[in-house]
Amino acid sequence: MLFSEDKISEIIEKNDIVDVISEYMTLKKKGSNYMALCPFHSEKTPSFSVSFSKQIFNCFGCGVGGNVITFIQRIEKISFIEAVKLLAERSGIQLEEDKDPKQLEMAKLRKTLYKLNTEAARFFYSNLNNGDKASQYLKKRGLSDAIIKKFGLGFAPDRWHELIDFMKRKGYGTELLYKAGLIVKGRDKEGYCDKFRNRVMFPIIDLKGNVIAFGGRVIGDSKPKYLNSPDTPVFNKGYNIYGLNFVKKIQNLENIIIVEGYMDTIALHQFGVENAVASLGTAFTENQAKLLKRFSNEIIISYDSDLAGQNATMKGLSILENEGCVVRVLSLPSGRDPDEYIRKEGIEAFREKIKGSVSLIEYKIENLRRNLDINNIQDRIVFTKGFSEILKDVISNVEVDAYIKKYSGIMQVNEAALYAELNRLRNKNKNGNNKHNIINSKKAEVELKKGEITAEIYLLNICIYYYEKVKDIFETLEPTDFSNDMHIKIAEIIQKYSKEDKPVTAGEIIGFFNSDDEKSKVAEIFSYKLPDADIDKLIKSSIERVKHSRLDRRIQEMIIKMEEMYLVGRKEEANAFFVEIKELQKRRRRFPEGRG
Ligand code: UTP
Ligand code: MN
Repeated sequence: MLFSEDKISEIIEKNDIVDVISEYMTLKKKGSNYMALCPFHSEKTPSFSVSFSKQIFNCFGCGVGGNVITFIQRIEKISFIEAVKLLAERSGIQLEEDKDPKQLEMAKLRKTLYKLNTEAARFFYSNLNNGDKASQYLKKRGLSDAIIKKFGLGFAPDRWHELIDFMKRKGYGTELLYKAGLIVKGRDKEGYCDKFRNRVMFPIIDLKGNVIAFGGRVIGDSKPKYLNSPDTPVFNKGYNIYGLNFVKKIQNLENIIIVEGYMDTIALHQFGVENAVASLGTAFTENQAKLLKRFSNEIIISYDSDLAGQNATMKGLSILENEGCVVRVLSLPSGRDPDEYIRKEGIEAFREKIKGSVSLIEYKIENLRRNLDINNIQDRIVFTKGFSEILKDVISNVEVDAYIKKYSGIMQVNEAALYAELNRLRNKNKNGNNKHNIINSKKAEVELKKGEITAEIYLLNICIYYYEKVKDIFETLEPTDFSNDMHIKIAEIIQKYSKEDKPVTAGEIIGFFNSDDEKSKVAEIFSYKLPDADIDKLIKSSIERVKHSRLDRRIQEMIIKMEEMYLVGRKEEANAFFVEIKELQKRRRRFPEGRG
């Protein structure tokens, strides 16, 4: 981690969550909380609540929650690091990196490169003169003057030192230009020459509006078609998305369409599809997926339909799904990219394609179907097998039924045959993992009943509300007595603070969790209302309940282990477990039943 725990805690402490959120929206006091309409989903009655005492926010409608840093991340759509920096600045806290001379120097260099790149982009743009070959080329590709201006397109002249000379006059030397990736070491005595020559230029712009890199396309058919900036102190290939700076500004963004190329993005924008961005040819990365997800959960992929494009689509799909996005695929007729398609068929046809975009499952089925001939029996068998393979992991029966109905018709395969093959596959897998299944079903039994989870949540909330009780609670309980990893981790944090005699807020605890999901869950835990009961009685009954179920869990675990030993014929070990189980059960009976 870039920042120390102490720094993060200080930032959370100095930026009161009620103050910060009030800067974005009007909060209404209601009981001990503040309420408002949730800024993260659309609603008519307020379910967004902010707690001063706990320093957290939580929406009962959409489940989003967290501390002051999470709020800033979400509302500003920026990363954790950026949010910490913003809040540090807001509250006048110095970050460690502010003092590190190396970091300072790097920050200065970056600033200079942004300015330099902006100058270069202006230079390229100024080279587009009505009637010359670059302008003609862009016209021929159907680009309007307005869209050329919006994307800041330009032209790099067909000479060796035009940019170098221009920038020299602006006061930028070759060393900086080299660091910006705009010039390369030449073979002649002069040492350097322009990297982009005789190319149409596409500036790449980050979310803050800085020009960070360029792509340059040949006019005509020579190779390589595109040249791109190398990685520089301000540009890192896998970390940026072309066009996202425009998408960022869309209110109520429904989804994002991701395409492969510069020209595709620009064409879609020109036709009014302003939620289009590009991953720029290279393999789609996890970082790009994270970046997209900040703006929308729903991503539509429209890559080329050639084999390379199909593979890229599959890979992109799985990366995006792993990040928790809902992904659909928009397929175009083979050989067409979005740019060509929208120009030929028009915006209405493209909108229809968006509507017709399909889920991952359907995309896989369509891929399978593509090369098969329904008139050929052999092909129909291939389809039946492949189809079942794709469907076997789909959990929802309704969904399975729908696919079977649809494709039995299209492929002229009997519905019953599809069900039979699917069941055969599913059963085969079950038998193969027989032992695994037994253990899993037992594990399910071990799962806690709701009341027991509630008891744990009561205790965690009491620790925060009634700081003076923390020591007592951890005298009888260990953090590992709690039933799941999240509760254990929270208990450990509280215990650690208590050992240093420091109270801790829910907001600070959230600071120890990394993923958005975890942060929301922790916020939910601390948004529980404690029942109106005598606090000491509540503590006592909750602790009993926790201990109780801890013991139950131990016993269940032992039973599973004992059975496993029996299964593999290790009788001796099984008997040892048996003795231990009896012992635990005896202890369990001495416990009074919890009432919490
Ligand atoms: P495409 O070959 O599909 O080009 O590459 P395109 O975007 O449709 O461009 P036009 O219509 O032929 O002018 C898709 C993307 O892959 C990257 C570029 O980002 C391009 O937009 N690419 C492609 C390169 O970086 N280098 C190349 O040589 C080719
Ligand atoms: Mn194209």
